[in-house]
Amino acid sequence: MFSLTLLTLVCYVLGNRHILDTPCMTDFVAVNLNSPRIIVNEIKYCYDKIPDFRTSVHGHNIKSDCYINEYLIGVNKSTNTVNRCGEWLEVVGPSQNPVMCMIAGSVDVTINGANPQIYTRIIGVRNSIFSQITIASGTSLPLSQVTVAESDFDLRINPSLYVLSKNDTHAIIQFTDHNRPPEKIEIIDGELNEEIKINSDDTFTIQLFSHSINIYLISFDSEKTEFKGIDLNTITRYATDDRFVSYNLRSCKYLADTQMFIEGKNYTNILPMFRWKMYYIADNDNVTSFPLTESIIQFDTPSDPISTCFLYSTPLRLNQDFKELRMDFRCSDLHSYKFIGANLYYTDRISSVDMKTANLISSDLPTKYYFDKDGETIHMKIGFDASSYQYSNFIKITHSVPIGTTLSLKKSYLIRSKANDNQTECDHTTFDCQFTECTITTTSSASPWQENCQPTCGTCRVGYVCSDQGFCLKEQNFNQRSGCLNLIISMFVLALLLVL
Ligand SMILES: *[C@@H]1O[C@H](CO)[C@@H](O)[C@H](O)[C@H]1NC(C)=O
Ligand SMILES: *[C@@H]1O[C@H](CO)[C@@H](O)[C@H](O)[C@H]1NC(C)=O
Ligand SMILES: *[C@@H]1O[C@H](CO)[C@@H](O)[C@H](O)[C@H]1NC(C)=O
Ligand SMILES: *[C@@H]1O[C@H](CO)[C@@H](O)[C@H](O)[C@H]1NC(C)=O
Ligand SMILES: *[C@@H]1O[C@H](CO)[C@@H](O)[C@H](O)[C@H]1NC(C)=O
Repeated sequence: MFSLTLLTLVCYVLGNRHILDTPCMTDFVAVNLNSPRIIVNEIKYCYDKIPDFRTSVHGHNIKSDCYINEYLIGVNKSTNTVNRCGEWLEVVGPSQNPVMCMIAGSVDVTINGANPQIYTRIIGVRNSIFSQITIASGTSLPLSQVTVAESDFDLRINPSLYVLSKNDTHAIIQFTDHNRPPEKIEIIDGELNEEIKINSDDTFTIQLFSHSINIYLISFDSEKTEFKGIDLNTITRYATDDRFVSYNLRSCKYLADTQMFIEGKNYTNILPMFRWKMYYIADNDNVTSFPLTESIIQFDTPSDPISTCFLYSTPLRLNQDFKELRMDFRCSDLHSYKFIGANLYYTDRISSVDMKTANLISSDLPTKYYFDKDGETIHMKIGFDASSYQYSNFIKITHSVPIGTTLSLKKSYLIRSKANDNQTECDHTTFDCQFTECTITTTSSASPWQENCQPTCGTCRVGYVCSDQGFCLKEQNFNQRSGCLNLIISMFVLALLLVL
């Protein structure tokens, strides 16, 4: 019996330590709300009906509040709209240092020169968080591409219930410090068993009771937390001695886009923030840029030597995040071609290139190239320097060809380093349930999301399973037993056999 207890304990501990994968959405943009280059038009707070919310709500108190676009605050489920207020996000930027923040409201900003589409992808944060996400020593750039994941971060404190206001018939309540967004509450009082859905402003409206009642807070994956003895007639705060479980989630990696250019591809729909910009630079440092939407990169060289360059608007650890850069290009005078060198730079000028202000990070990166049998194409591989942890965002490749030679880029892309090539890349479409009802766990083309990118949208009640399309259907057969239970049973049988 002792060994069985021990085994149960081991299973319990292992079960708890089990690390779950959560979809990592790589196309969000962190905005430094304290930057003088960002105009904050309006912030709508989730908890401003709570007295002293800046100290009483944990996420505010530890200065880990963040803000998203107003249109993303409500998660569209088929049954209800769930409010993201109080949800914790994991935000990972180029520092690869995951930072947790609590959604504390919505923000409306103006960013000079930005494509308006970017506003639906922003996570507005304080300067202190922004500097942990990006370059630790600070950067003058107010934006950074980031990877975002929904988290159920264990706050190590229990949720609170606030009775915000009341009139003769109803009271308005709100919950804080829950590690998972609430979907509804349940009131059980004698014969009464009533479910109340959340209001769009994260509050609940309840009819008044003359006596104290018990209220269950129900998260959108149907977990319950009980608040006992709530008197709705008093404007006050209640705590509970219970909280939602929290799982160990695998941290996401920040991933810059590997696709730099493919000849002929239509780039009109890709946000400039996530595009590699292309330039060529003549011997006299005269810079010529190609429009971001250009699908043909071809030019006659104005000087010898000549450099082709790529610029990313988010500075990152290129040397760490990537193993190599591959580039295939045509050269009209293959026999005269000579490779000169490939260098990495850091620059915080991202709308134009100025070599005078760029800092050299790595020079003469190890490069191999060969000429294709077709007599015009050069295949090139540029290796990064895995010993360098410095940030960079500008790659300059210098060639020697006679003036007037035509160069044209066929394709160029990056290959991730081993540590970074294991993550499923999800996009912002995972940040909404798209009117489904439950979390899809199967792999099927019927799913609105790609494999491993299905968001958490809820669980079905007992006897129902989630369909390929994300709706709860009656279960066909009951044949599920936990792996741990199976293990215990087989060990038990084995032990019995040994004893006998
Ligand atoms: C929910 O749907 C509405 C209408 O289609 C849309 O405006 C809103 O952005 C959606 N919410 C999220 C989180 O995508
Ligand atoms: C009391 O508040 C509820 C909910 O906000 C509202 O529907 C109701 O009309 C109010 N009653 C009075 C008498 O103001
Ligand atoms: C590129 O795509 C956009 C939008 O899908 C379209 O309007 C445009 O005509 C396309 N351009 C080319 C050159 O195909
Ligand atoms: C710089 O390049 C452009 C073409 O991209 C050319 O028109 C201009 O004359 C050049 N300027 C100098 C100083 O060479
Ligand atoms: C890659 O992911 C799998 C599971 O998703 C994990 O078991 C494995 O250890 C990962 N490998 C690396 C190198 O991180």
